[in-house]
Amino acid sequence: MKLRIALLAGDGIGPEITAEARRTLDRTAERFGHRFEYREAPVGAAAIDLTGDPYPEETHRICLESDAVLFGAIGDPKYDNDPTAPVRPEQGLLRMRRSLGLYANLRPVAVTESLIDRSPLKPEIVRGTDFICVRELTGGIYFGRPQGRDQAGTRAFDTCTYTVAEIERVLHTAFRMAGARRRRLTVVDKANVLETSRLWRETARRLAAQYPETEVEYLFVDNAAMQLIRQPSHFDVIVTENMFGDILTDEASVLGGSLGMLASASLGDGPALFEPIHGSYPQAAGRNIANPMAAILSGALLLEHFGLKEEAETIRQAVDHTIRDGFVTEDLARPGERSCTTSEVGDRIRARV
Ligand code: IPM
Ligand code: MN
Repeated sequence: MKLRIALLAGDGIGPEITAEARRTLDRTAERFGHRFEYREAPVGAAAIDLTGDPYPEETHRICLESDAVLFGAIGDPKYDNDPTAPVRPEQGLLRMRRSLGLYANLRPVAVTESLIDRSPLKPEIVRGTDFICVRELTGGIYFGRPQGRDQAGTRAFDTCTYTVAEIERVLHTAFRMAGARRRRLTVVDKANVLETSRLWRETARRLAAQYPETEVEYLFVDNAAMQLIRQPSHFDVIVTENMFGDILTDEASVLGGSLGMLASASLGDGPALFEPIHGSYPQAAGRNIANPMAAILSGALLLEHFGLKEEAETIRQAVDHTIRDGFVTEDLARPGERSCTTSEVGDRIRARV
């Protein structure tokens, strides 16, 4: 298969980890006889430095001309510490999600045997954890207007809005995923307080009739946050709005020991985008210490998206072996265990592909 991949490395550790993902994809292509072509484009703080815009028109064009986008991370402390900066890297990410129509963000969480004793939770609690969180990605409070301050600057406001159409399309994605898995769907909302959540719940109840094979349950987000820690193996597919999904998936990511392990796929109207869920981790940038596994596993999701199942599974197995053999970066290393560099971990994984 021939695939054109837009490579948007972004900020912080983005360039290091996407380089490992790319090399791993290339090794996989070599083994299975595929051809992947990459076009690099700037995004985030890196793009602001170059062009003044965190998601330049040219980058957007390159994404549209590609079959898929492989994305690193964005964010830079120089903006985090300046809340008044008129242009921010995160705006690039949000604009990219919105303009590529990437409304469904899939974040799989699977705690394999190799990860069980690296989890902060007890083995008997995390064992068997295997779920996907479907996060709505282009609506809700991230995009609602009005947003701003009053004249005096003493009052600030954000707006959370959802339309039935926005809720329906992401629910359909989640129902279809559940149907292909263990057929349990958990709808997470705050319907006891928020009107948008009540619309979510009402819409989910209506659509559920079209998917009778799937058992649907409804959880308030505070309870869901607790159940994820108490009984993570209970979940199969979780679907929720943008901000709840952002928060719950950071929580869920450490079930397997590290935020550096969680990959994601964003699907929508055009080319799909694949990215690790961790951020730009600026403290580690350029030091060759960040965990490349989430980026490499995002590459596996990319392959799976194009039906290359065996290829994706080969990468996952290689990652699993590498952890079992103890070749891990510091985030996963047990106390006293030697930790490897980013590129060593990447090399070990590729040796197994
Ligand atoms: C994520 C990130 C982003 C988000 C930030 C960087 C804007 O945390 O992808 O989860 O909140 O969506
Ligand atoms: Mn997040």
